[in-house]
Amino acid sequence: MPLSAPEPLNATHDVSRFTCGKAALDHWLQTRALSNQEKGFTVVMVVHDAGRVVGYYGLAPTAVVPTVLPRSIKTGQPPDPVPCLLLGQLAIDVEWAGHGIGTGLLRHALIRCVQGARLIGGRALMVNAIDPQAAEFWRRRGFLASRGDPLMLFRSIADIAASVTAAGLDASIR
Ligand SMILES: CC(C)(COP(=O)(O)OP(=O)(O)OC[C@H]1O[C@@H](n2cnc3c(N)ncnc32)[C@H](O)[C@@H]1OP(=O)(O)O)[C@@H](O)C(=O)NCCC(=O)NCCS
Repeated sequence: MPLSAPEPLNATHDVSRFTCGKAALDHWLQTRALSNQEKGFTVVMVVHDAGRVVGYYGLAPTAVVPTVLPRSIKTGQPPDPVPCLLLGQLAIDVEWAGHGIGTGLLRHALIRCVQGARLIGGRALMVNAIDPQAAEFWRRRGFLASRGDPLMLFRSIADIAASVTAAGLDASIR
């Protein structure tokens, strides 16, 4: 059976066996994700195999003090705090790792960020890398480390939008 398309997490999804290799990300999915989604803190999108979640990401609005932004994103006289978006989680079950699912889910998240920022604003997408290996994953995808914290990284929405367009992907809002 092929994996599902990304869809919002709901109570019918089986998250109990999810194991991505980073306990904090497994624990968050199993104990916090659904209530965070229901309360509107985070939108949690999953892909699943017959109901069993094999990958997920979480997106939320956020705001950061201008001083943490990389210089190329801060530019000019930004508001304080600076409206941004937060990709708080991205994880794939180890059984399905290395098959492009993470890349596909990230593409889905980036398109949503471009669409969301068109509707409500947002200067950059922020990610919190769980460790230095994850930070390297983000740097290879165009994210720049925060001033002072190598595990907090940003990519401007304008840069993401340009890459989405260059890849021929549709980020129009219907
Ligand atoms: C990082 C992760 C989401 C990638 O998902 P995936 O479906 O295996 O990824 P893909 O098959 O699309 O691509 C493989 C990429 O993941 C990278 N990767 C594999 N394991 C990784 C890990 N533990 N940490 C960081 N990156 C990892 C590979 O180096 C490769 O990156 P590259 O294309 O830049 O060389 C997945 O390995 C994972 O859930 N890791 C644990 C949680 C994590 O580190 N999340 C990242 C942000 S906090």
